[in-house]
Amino acid sequence: MTTNLRSKTASTVTYRADYTQPNYWVDSVSMIFDLHATHTCIATTSILRHRENAPSILEWVGDTSKGGIVLEEISINGTILTANEFNINADTGILSVLNMPKTNLTDSITVKVKTVVNPTDNTTLMGLYASQGNLFTQCEAEGFRRITYAPDRPDVMSRYTVILCADKNQYPVLLSNGNLIFSGDMPTDNQRHYAVWQDPHPKPSYLFAIVAGDLAVNETWIDNPYVNNGRSLLQIYTRPADQLATQWALDSLKASITWDLHTFGRYLDLERYMVVAVGDFNMGAMENKGLNIFNTAYVLAHPETATDTDFNNVEAVIGHEYFHNWTGNRITCRDWFQLTLKEGLTVYRDQLFSADQAAGFGHAVLSEVAVSSAKAVCRINDVITLKAAQFGEDMGPMAHPVRPDSFEEISNFYTATVYEKGAEIIRMQALLANAATPTGDGFRRGMDIYFERYDGQAVTCDDFLHAISEGSGVDLSQFKRWYEQAGTPIVTAMGIYDATAKRYTLTLQQRNPSVGIEIANLALTKPPLHIPVLMGLLNQEGVINSTFNGQCTDEHLLHLTQIEQVFVFEGVTSQPVPSLLRHFSAPVKLQYQYSHTDLALLLSRDSDAFNRWEAIQRLYERWIFAYYENTSSAIDSSVLTNLLANIVCRTLTPILNDINLAAAFKATLLNVPVYNTLADSIADNLRPHALYAARESVINQLAQGLKNTLPILYEQLSNHAPYSPDSTQAGTRALRNTVLMLWLRTGDRIAVQHAQGQYRRTHNMTNRIAALSGLLQHTVINEIDELLPEADDFYLRFEDNDLVIDKWFALQATLPYVKISFIQTLLAHPAFKWTTPNRMRSVVFRVCFANPVLFHTEAGYDFWLNSLEQLIAINPDVAARLARAMDLWQRYEPSLAQAMYAKIQQALKLPDLPNGVAEILNKALLNKYSI
Ligand code: TRP
Ligand code: ZN
Repeated sequence: MTTNLRSKTASTVTYRADYTQPNYWVDSVSMIFDLHATHTCIATTSILRHRENAPSILEWVGDTSKGGIVLEEISINGTILTANEFNINADTGILSVLNMPKTNLTDSITVKVKTVVNPTDNTTLMGLYASQGNLFTQCEAEGFRRITYAPDRPDVMSRYTVILCADKNQYPVLLSNGNLIFSGDMPTDNQRHYAVWQDPHPKPSYLFAIVAGDLAVNETWIDNPYVNNGRSLLQIYTRPADQLATQWALDSLKASITWDLHTFGRYLDLERYMVVAVGDFNMGAMENKGLNIFNTAYVLAHPETATDTDFNNVEAVIGHEYFHNWTGNRITCRDWFQLTLKEGLTVYRDQLFSADQAAGFGHAVLSEVAVSSAKAVCRINDVITLKAAQFGEDMGPMAHPVRPDSFEEISNFYTATVYEKGAEIIRMQALLANAATPTGDGFRRGMDIYFERYDGQAVTCDDFLHAISEGSGVDLSQFKRWYEQAGTPIVTAMGIYDATAKRYTLTLQQRNPSVGIEIANLALTKPPLHIPVLMGLLNQEGVINSTFNGQCTDEHLLHLTQIEQVFVFEGVTSQPVPSLLRHFSAPVKLQYQYSHTDLALLLSRDSDAFNRWEAIQRLYERWIFAYYENTSSAIDSSVLTNLLANIVCRTLTPILNDINLAAAFKATLLNVPVYNTLADSIADNLRPHALYAARESVINQLAQGLKNTLPILYEQLSNHAPYSPDSTQAGTRALRNTVLMLWLRTGDRIAVQHAQGQYRRTHNMTNRIAALSGLLQHTVINEIDELLPEADDFYLRFEDNDLVIDKWFALQATLPYVKISFIQTLLAHPAFKWTTPNRMRSVVFRVCFANPVLFHTEAGYDFWLNSLEQLIAINPDVAARLARAMDLWQRYEPSLAQAMYAKIQQALKLPDLPNGVAEILNKALLNKYSI
């Protein structure tokens, strides 16, 4: 029996409250893949166990769309089912067998399914697909159903044995999860060979993977007392030409293993750990058990072709996927609503890892100041990401709790909220748990209980909270609301100083209005959250001690648990300035009426480097908004902008010359807030062009204000040591390149010469692309309407390197003052490809998410609609991501909002609209957001 019906055409909402266990567990699965690029046959044998008291109905699922499965045959206990013995629902893809054999509890049932797929036609990159002649799989969240009919839900965990058969020349390397048991030539056909893989660990189907292709490997053995023969093999597989760029990934993998053992006592439970790079991939990477599959962008790192940021990203993502081996794989999610259980926790773990690596974990001994500023820089970058990506999401139509209550398409919920806010929620638990234990290790104790108790199981966020609470003794019952409420809470602070009593009284208030789909639920109440506020007080000389709760120290942890709460500090000898929310101790918007000079004080004197950065961000914001407001009113704001320019430049100059501060930290202080974060503070009538221009004006004015310092700094910061991606060297490059960018903006011809020289003479991508980017911006500023010679040179130099050519496209697509016709020439370039997400994103996503000046025009919106239409035919998950560019349409000035609204409506009429895209567009139209 065959079927060509498209699956999942009906839009259906899945609710968290509806969870029930499956009727049948699957204890083991064996699969035989007869691999061919356009016609792969898969024979799957599953051994089922009936759940006690469950109905005797089998409900499995398959997806037939775009190269997905064609069912050839299904048999139960050796008997092939006839067409009337099973049913396939064309809308949902659900295969049901109503009359399953009646069994005793100990009996098992054998189900065999034969399917055929076409990897070459599979442009969705979910299930089994071809990329540059090789074959790969991606199964999370619901890709396994594109390989065979299966339960395909994370609470069904099975032991897998996989046999791969393929052409020896075309696919010399055959990989799957676990251990290689046998391999050899096919007895029947000497062109073909086979490999048998067995995974000793039971796993959900979303962690299943195979790879077949012509790949080279960089490998190493490590001692590992936790596995049978006392050592493990670590391997990085890539296309042969990319092998030179794999050492950093291998080193990062070793570092991850050492770090997790040291920090959480988690060991590597595998004799073989493989990482495979693929050029066509929907996201960053995938933690398949023992066989991680990575976007090449997060594996390959060579100094000549990868920037310092790329090196950091590779390290972070290698760490992330490795840490999933415990937080995700050994202990997995009961259902997809619990996604943050593995993602929030694993992002938190990879953030800790990156911060420790930057601080020299395991190698160079850095000074205490260097360690703390390296960690602060990591925290600052995490918070920049959180604010730029998550805060906006949390005020728009897709706002959702980190544990959502419903979804239409699960792939739409791999969001900044689930990942980044989820990580913040773990970070707060760690802060609370550690503060609650005298030894300061409450979080680790809770984690130990979590691993001990739930190993091998599919669990929920509640189970996690219980473990942390038990391990640390901290009561998380109110804290749990963080999992239930969407929206970024607003915390308002007000302080009163009583000089005679030497008493400072701080009043904190919290509110968290309904957002996104919460607004539709009129019965919804959002009781107060448990918000940890880490803080200290300063006077004009710097940080001071104060007594709170009987403790006299320079830092206090406040527990804001009510809507309004008063905190009293004694022994405060002079009028203080509060440093609130140190390290960004909670993901909230903090409102406090700081004066400009309060902020300058925090910037120069706070002991918390994070809050020094926050202080200058607030100054920059005021400065930018002074320009922005001025473009709409007759009031001349030059008095205010000049005042702020003076304060910032006067405060910054000694900081930039402070030899005790890390260069990387200084660089963060020279970067004004990103456009997205600025836009998020404008509730309505947002004028994107004016905001962009205001931000540019501030950068230019900052450059003017620092004019005399910039050439000196640029000279001082030059470095001739051989390239290393370590945080000290990278920090120096970051500062020097920021200085160069500012210097170019002063219009100094010497700066241009330096940029040209740097472009030509450097050997690393960090410096080369910084120079090129600076020159491109400079060209735009001077309205020269031709491509720079450096840009042509860059293309020719790196023509053969896909990741570098992605950068070349991205740089151009982000130029603010080009026209859509310029973007069309990029699309028409022979190297542009719609079907490769990295390449497509380097142009299309750049225009729609990173180029507000170009995007917010009628032509920009048309470009969005046309691109969406193209992508719908190719890759629904990636199309749904693009759809989100319209999320916040309601906040724009009326002419733009109307144009965006009209485009969303047009998009909804596109033929063959995938459910995921429809979910995004419908939510955008129907939900009002508030701020
Ligand atoms: N679980 C992966 C991670 O966070 C990401 C992921 C989920 C993914 N679904 C995917 C990657 C689909 C690629 C395609 O590490
Ligand atoms: Zn992850």
